[in-house]
Amino acid sequence: IPVEQFDLVIFGGTGDLARRKILPGLFRRFRAGQMPEGSRVIAAARSEMDDADYRKQMMAAIKEFGGSETKDTESLEAFVQSLHYVAVDARGDGGWSELAQLMRDGVIRAFYFSVGPGLFGDLAERLHQHAIADRDSRIVVEKPFGRDLQSAKALNATLAQHFREDQIYRIDHYLGKETVQNLMAVRFGNALFEPLWNSHYVDHIQITVAETVGVGGRGGYYDKSGAMRDMVQNHLMQLLCLIAMEAPNQFEADAVRDEKLKVIRALQPVDFHHIVRGQYEPGSGGPSYREDVENPRSHTESFVALKAHIANMRWAGVPFYLRTGKRMKGRVSEIAVVFKDIGHSIFEGDEARHRNILAIRLQPNEGMDLQVTIKEPGPGGMRLVDVPLDMTFADALGDEQEVPDAYERLIMDVIRGNQTLFMRGDEVEAAWAWTDPIIEAWEARNDVPKHYDQGTAGPEDAMMLMHRDGRRWREIKG
Ligand code: BG6
Repeated sequence: IPVEQFDLVIFGGTGDLARRKILPGLFRRFRAGQMPEGSRVIAAARSEMDDADYRKQMMAAIKEFGGSETKDTESLEAFVQSLHYVAVDARGDGGWSELAQLMRDGVIRAFYFSVGPGLFGDLAERLHQHAIADRDSRIVVEKPFGRDLQSAKALNATLAQHFREDQIYRIDHYLGKETVQNLMAVRFGNALFEPLWNSHYVDHIQITVAETVGVGGRGGYYDKSGAMRDMVQNHLMQLLCLIAMEAPNQFEADAVRDEKLKVIRALQPVDFHHIVRGQYEPGSGGPSYREDVENPRSHTESFVALKAHIANMRWAGVPFYLRTGKRMKGRVSEIAVVFKDIGHSIFEGDEARHRNILAIRLQPNEGMDLQVTIKEPGPGGMRLVDVPLDMTFADALGDEQEVPDAYERLIMDVIRGNQTLFMRGDEVEAAWAWTDPIIEAWEARNDVPKHYDQGTAGPEDAMMLMHRDGRRWREIKG
């Protein structure tokens, strides 16, 4: 779908997200011919500098974070010509009339709030006061969208003073990942899966987002958040929604988001015995979590595993096991739909338990595999073996099918005015309403997370969470 000419203003345009994700992403879209001629990126931040300084800085950043395409220096030179800079004081008056003058009529205006949520209100108000935002302007906000239900509601209310819901794009970059969208294609575009996608055939679902990185460098933010707020409330919750939701009647923003919201609202409160918190110890690699965040007494979790239930007809009795952690054995994000056992085997001597598993890999090697049972080849009689029907998208579709980064896709969706892959305000609030009691209970009990060695699959108790139910986590490959 073609994109119209735009002016994208990035508040916090010199920050980490702009340098690592937004500008490298835009550059790749520019190279792919998706940035219409005349479109501009206007960075707004506190420091004084001119366009030339900003272009130079961003050229370096894009080269550092933009991947192999940045070798095309001719394109890069051309791209940075579309960058502009204006020094703006988010809480004062400085720079706002300059910004207002820069804006053009007749092009799409988008404002990316790549700043702490404490500034959202100030920015929204000044955009309004200086008549910089018009009726069709879009604003883009990043997580963390609040740190609990109350603060999320306050943020929604602040934004709502100046913007309609259909102008607000709340980013969860997991929704921009290729495989996450593929999940919907697989579920709703095939005759094969949907009939089995319920408690009659599914034994349980596992969602794993394991990272090898620690929190080094972001300790200040992370230690106040922890894995529950940083990952579960948003990214894992979104994955759970997409796997569990009913089919929307069409692939359209509100139809999809209505269905996701129903899932979140149907989540039951989590039983305290069904949650494991962990914190990493030195183990194989670098320092411990507490050293990383420079807080020797920190009780913040860098790992969570839990068992959730969705109280609706489709999923009654089917556990959803979620886990995420830092400094784990491998970097794996996957969703596994584990189907029920066959029940009765007609093959003599077949004591093994055979189950079909559909694993959807978000990263690395985006793709899917379906574990099926077949006869072990050879003359040795009817011996059964489980093998994966593996489909790595890059192999199946060819390398020339370049997969855009999550941010590239999401920014272009903002310009196109497509909110399907963005969180609606009520969705975010519902997610906090489910997360809050869990965090409050930890705080009330001054809960101490279980320790786990770096380079492992997390604390022993997380294994027990499954073993007690006669189940096993899938292996995290190192
Ligand atoms: C971010 C979290 O939202 O997602 C980080 O704040 C985490 O802590 C990151 O590392 C993971 O994203 P990805 O795309 O690398 O899986």
